[in-house]
Amino acid sequence: MTLKIKSLTQYKNTYRESVQKPEKFWAAQARTFQWRKRWEKVLDWNFDEPDIKWFIGGKLNITENCLDRHLKKSRNKIALIWESNDPSQPHKEYTYGQLYEEVCQCANALKAMGIKKGDRVCFYMPMVPELTIGVLACARIGAIHSVVFAGFSANALADRIKDAQCKMVICSDYNSRGAKNIPVKAVVDEALRKGCRSVKTVLVQKNTGESIRMKKGRDRWWHDEVPKRKKACDAEEMDSEDLLFILYTSGSTGKPKGVVHTCGGYMVYTAFTFKNVFQYERGDIYWCTADIGWITGHSYIIYGPLLAGATTMMFEGVPTYPNAGRFWHVCEKHRVNQFYTAPTAIRALMAQGDEWPAHYDLSSIRVLGTVGEPINEEAWNWYNEKIGKGQAPIVDTWWQTETGGILISPLPGLHKLKPCYAMLPMPGIQPCLMDANGKEIRKREAEGLLCIKFPWPSMIRTTYGDHERCRQTYFSTFPGMYFTGDGAKRDSDGAYRIIGRVDDVINVSGHRIGTAEVENAINEHEDVIESAVVGYPHRIKGQGIYGFVIAGKKITNAAKFKKEVHAVVTKVIGPIAKPDKIQVVSGLPKTRSGKIMRRILRKIAAGDTANLGDTSTLLNPEIVEEIKKSAAQAV
Ligand code: WTA
Repeated sequence: MTLKIKSLTQYKNTYRESVQKPEKFWAAQARTFQWRKRWEKVLDWNFDEPDIKWFIGGKLNITENCLDRHLKKSRNKIALIWESNDPSQPHKEYTYGQLYEEVCQCANALKAMGIKKGDRVCFYMPMVPELTIGVLACARIGAIHSVVFAGFSANALADRIKDAQCKMVICSDYNSRGAKNIPVKAVVDEALRKGCRSVKTVLVQKNTGESIRMKKGRDRWWHDEVPKRKKACDAEEMDSEDLLFILYTSGSTGKPKGVVHTCGGYMVYTAFTFKNVFQYERGDIYWCTADIGWITGHSYIIYGPLLAGATTMMFEGVPTYPNAGRFWHVCEKHRVNQFYTAPTAIRALMAQGDEWPAHYDLSSIRVLGTVGEPINEEAWNWYNEKIGKGQAPIVDTWWQTETGGILISPLPGLHKLKPCYAMLPMPGIQPCLMDANGKEIRKREAEGLLCIKFPWPSMIRTTYGDHERCRQTYFSTFPGMYFTGDGAKRDSDGAYRIIGRVDDVINVSGHRIGTAEVENAINEHEDVIESAVVGYPHRIKGQGIYGFVIAGKKITNAAKFKKEVHAVVTKVIGPIAKPDKIQVVSGLPKTRSGKIMRRILRKIAAGDTANLGDTSTLLNPEIVEEIKKSAAQAV
């Protein structure tokens, strides 16, 4: 079994050993899994290329570790609980035995439809069990899954399908979310009209049952293709460094990039962190409310928990449907022991009043978790008092799509918590703070740019189809280090507090959105000449999106203009990227080399105009006063 750290002293000793002899430490963890062939060398690395390989020469299939391995002892144990959007619908349960069979059936169906090892399969689905089954089926046959969050637009979906050259898209007919039914298949159809020539098949899961169009020869129903297949399927033997999946994420420039994770290291690290961060005990019911369209869903709904033989829950709905008590109702109903969510959900539910959680019996909850963005003290305290009743430690877990798993987090019950601190590095993780001149800050109490000095098993290997971009983005700012893009503080105990992104990425309700992406989308509006997008503090979302827009004609109705801008952004990216505020301006503050001075715009957006710093080096300093004055007219 994977090591589970049970005391602070053990953490300290384990941590020390893990950084003194990382290969030895990770080999000991890896040995607890089922490998077809043992690795020859634990690690080879070089951050300049970058070239990172773990468990070299090892052969395995991650699904044998998620499923087959548990069948002997836990065939009848519940692996997956699915809770519908509609509370009047019964929930579904899959034992390890059933999940194994369904994954095998789906794997056989994929093979029958021509999917082979190395092929890319795109998922564009709501949170239904078939998503988990499909993802594991890909992993079973060595196909590479690329899950796209079902809130993205047809354009965004098409870009991702084309970038990965996916051979198949798996989707649902509709997504039932809260009181709405949102078309899913129709978005796929639209995306495929944009020249995704690599796609040969669309496999459609019937979810709401509303009518959709099926294209002959291309589209097939899940219920026709999957249930008729054999309930056993030999797992493909994968190299430790073969690709497991691609997941697209936003950066400060250009289009979203496909973060690549590989089989062996990802398996070892997600299982290890799942067990330790959530202190999972046999029999516990674990619930992570994330969407599988994001990394949190990949690592801590599917892989981490199933590797650990846990019972993991999937929720189709939203926190406020049919009312703001839904999360707490589900916790009570299933006697949830570990509950993992995002600060934005906590803030939204906190705003609905204390009576909601007070209605329900939350006494089963032992560990609470947060992820995705910095949590503010008020929300932390509310979560601690109203949900955990002061009894359930909060693990504020810091990590990224690129890191594959949690890197900095308290261990519940072991570390003395400090509100809003992600606390201490996991074993094997060597964080450091850098100053703007590229020097490591050795002083303990400090603030700087967060980097990681040494590889860990689940780190990004490349950005799909563009290795140079991976090098530039993560390994060139500070040579010899992985740069996270986040700023952090370290206190006298060595505990870390994450401040937030230092690049042009904004974190809206825990979703990463590149400002450049939003600007490109806004600029597609026919009356827009130029735009600049920044983040600003938002009570519920953490950060909101603020767009400064230069229009080509006089805007007389700002509210109408905002609606139009929303429509283009929704079309180009999806509704999650809609600006919360739009301010029409006649110019943007630029440096003499033509770069927009975002520092100034960020301050204006935050309403902090008293001290804008030095504006004398601007090409057009007069514009600052004008933007300041018209800020009140932002809608
Ligand atoms: C932010 C999500 C503060 C951070 C797993 C990071 C956090 C980005 C925390 C990655 C946290 C994540 N405290 N900030 N506990 N966790 N972040 O790729 O800015 O969707 O760089 O991965 O979210 O977002 P991503």
